[in-house]
Amino acid sequence: MRRRLPWMVACLLAGGALTAGSPTSGGEQSERSSIPFQTILELEQTARLLAVLLDSGRAVINDNQILLAESQGKGLTPEAFERQLLDMFRGRAGIDLQELDHTALGPRTKRLLRELVETSRQVIVDVRRKLSPEANEFTGFIPAAFGARVSARFTEHTGVRLKQTSLAPRNPANRPDAYERGALEAFADAAYPRETVISEMSANSASFRLMLPLYATRHCLDCHGEPKGVADRMGYPREGLVLGQNAGAISVLLPVKP
Ligand code: HEC
Repeated sequence: MRRRLPWMVACLLAGGALTAGSPTSGGEQSERSSIPFQTILELEQTARLLAVLLDSGRAVINDNQILLAESQGKGLTPEAFERQLLDMFRGRAGIDLQELDHTALGPRTKRLLRELVETSRQVIVDVRRKLSPEANEFTGFIPAAFGARVSARFTEHTGVRLKQTSLAPRNPANRPDAYERGALEAFADAAYPRETVISEMSANSASFRLMLPLYATRHCLDCHGEPKGVADRMGYPREGLVLGQNAGAISVLLPVKP
């Protein structure tokens, strides 16, 4: 994580978050340059950690697909899910969410991370509650379904928007906007440095946006891999992705003022 910081700072500078850019009015310019650099770094860190946490939950659901299908979803308890989520996040972000009070993260970052863990756990509780023993609904509880439910609920509670997107989305609701498309096109380039986020401050400094690239693991390929065009078990045509290829992104829109 740390090694990415200098690149990120360069990206912020190049993206005009701190430089003047092309303001439409003098007022906007002064407002833009009045945002302290430290605040921008905090926004970037918060958005990045939220994206990694949402993706960690998706990965836990992905890892448990066989267990979920065989047990009609009952095999993954909310406690086991949360434990795996915290482990996955610790491995990826180097932060122990059970020790948040001992970290140097800002109060808003801590609050939002706690809220996202709780929302993720609650989604598991709700899905299990709704299952009837004979229902086979759980085969539909895939990473994207988990991500969509968690994102919707998190946005409702916090005003922070989380979204899963790709250049050719299966679900039209996941279609990228212009900003997201630009980042996805950059991620799709094989020469693009892995795991490197793209972020920017919106022109009016009201919100901070960040895109975290996702990569195809073996499990994803069951549905998104080869043979291209042939229906997966959900009935969607496979995209023909290969191991390690970019598979879309998580998009975060974080209001600057809480
Ligand atoms: C069981 C099949 C399955 C697996 C496994 C799976 N996906 Fe998907 N994925 C889907 C389906 C179906 C959708 C569309 C869901 C919806 O209707 O919102 C989707 C949606 C997505 C989206 C949002 C864009 C879109 O197409 O709507 C992304 C990004 C994505 N998947 C990436 C991944 C990654 C990365 C993995 C592995 C970590 C993965 N998926 C594993 C079936 C799967």
